Amino acid sequence: MATFVCYDMPLSEPKMRRVPTTFLPPIALDARAKTPMYRQLYEWFRRAIITGQIRPGQRIPSTRNLAAELKISRIPVANAYDQLLAEGYLDTFPGAGTCVSRSLPDETLMPAGVKEGTGDRQNARGTAARRISSRGFALTQLPTQSWLNIVGAFRVSLPALDHFPIGIWSKLVTRHSRGSTKSLMGYGDAMGYLPLREVIAEYLGAARGVRCDASQVMITTGSQQGLQLAAQILLDSKNSVWIEEPGYPSARQAFIAAGAKLVPVPVDEKGMDVEAMIRRGSKARAVYITPSHQYPLGMTMTATRRMLLLNWAARSGGWIIEDDYDSEYRFDSRPIASLQGLDAYSRVIYVGTFSKVMFPALRVGYLVIPKDLVPAFCAARDAADVFSATLYQSVLADFIREGHFARHIRRMRMLYMEQRKALVRAIRLQIGDKVEVVGDAAGMHLVMMLPPGMSDVVVSKRAAQRGISATPLSTCYLRPPARGGLILGYGGTNPRQIQEGVAKLRMSIEGR
Ligand SMILES: Cc1ncc(COP(=O)(O)O)c(C=O)c1O
Repeated sequence: MATFVCYDMPLSEPKMRRVPTTFLPPIALDARAKTPMYRQLYEWFRRAIITGQIRPGQRIPSTRNLAAELKISRIPVANAYDQLLAEGYLDTFPGAGTCVSRSLPDETLMPAGVKEGTGDRQNARGTAARRISSRGFALTQLPTQSWLNIVGAFRVSLPALDHFPIGIWSKLVTRHSRGSTKSLMGYGDAMGYLPLREVIAEYLGAARGVRCDASQVMITTGSQQGLQLAAQILLDSKNSVWIEEPGYPSARQAFIAAGAKLVPVPVDEKGMDVEAMIRRGSKARAVYITPSHQYPLGMTMTATRRMLLLNWAARSGGWIIEDDYDSEYRFDSRPIASLQGLDAYSRVIYVGTFSKVMFPALRVGYLVIPKDLVPAFCAARDAADVFSATLYQSVLADFIREGHFARHIRRMRMLYMEQRKALVRAIRLQIGDKVEVVGDAAGMHLVMMLPPGMSDVVVSKRAAQRGISATPLSTCYLRPPARGGLILGYGGTNPRQIQEGVAKLRMSIEGR
């Protein structure tokens, strides 16, 4: 007998912090077993408490309700509860019912799934000693910057959320939720919602010079999923991937998760130095690149290098994964056309996102896939999460079709242009020529190069203590960089925060 039990009873005990009663995991009792029913129940609760399946403070059902739910007499339930109360696993409060004790010592509790009485218990706190895949282990070895988990000024990749037309968006969400037809509520296509794919294909053709039709556009959960799918489909374990040095750390994660070998390729003012790699005879199955706006340094790849790269791909059978993440925001020149649009050999997988032009929590991105690879990408998507949530795809399709998207981009371009100017000016006035600003021609971030010899991690940590989120440039390198810097996002940082933030950066640089 296994039963899911859910109760939610009001708490009247005033001093007790309320922890809502949620589902109890299935309780399996065996009426034919030699172990008495009360003992089986006692053992079940004890184990559920120790393994953390039910939490300290969580209310448990009354004896009456549980007996009714399990279709047994109340006596074994009352006996089991009495035993658990006597041993301190449960607490009871007059008029408030019975809860898991809050005073259980920490070492009594272990994470769910850890078996009692096995060697697992000793290892419960660390994953390293336990056997996981080498890909999984490699992912855990990537450096993390936990001190950056603050949402302070200069957070990279954050758009100006206060300026998002949330009223229009909410109306569209309501309209689509109310009018939800069966087609919006049932299973969808692995490629995504067709009307959204159509408007994206049209937009990319007009704004980014991408050559595609809707049949090649797959809606993904952010560009990160696009990178992951591309890595999965194009790479075998231990295949080499050229990646920009410095480059986008999350792309590294996607390739490592696919078991690939990362080969850092330096970037200079012309973008990734592909000539050097070709000259050296370096072999790769794929290259990951941000040619329109190199992340994080901001240069644009020259036409000569683009052609070289495309020719390399055609000759060697290599794939080019083009991440075009923020080209909507180019300030002093016209947008740069995509590499995909120049590709006569169908070797480019184009990756895009709505994280910067809309908001990151939307988690909508897209891939433009060469036609012959569409079935493979569909199969991979089907094996992953099947398809993206249809409601937001349909809302986004209307947001674009009705002109709100283009209007929002125009407004944000003006706003970011102002914020970028304010940031560059504040750096010049407050910090001066000790530092150097690079990559401020486009996007929502720039890089402030620090004085030679200064550790960007140290400065970033000092800034975080002042509530500033400045990403160390060195986190984008696989090898130690010659010079440190800070990546400063100005999209979600208003002029007041910019002034105050730069003053705090100055103090952090000066070691105060
Ligand atoms: C280079 C690059 N690609 C892609 C993204 C967007 O990622 P996602 O669509 O997964 O939010 C970002 C945002 O930070 C980025 O910097």
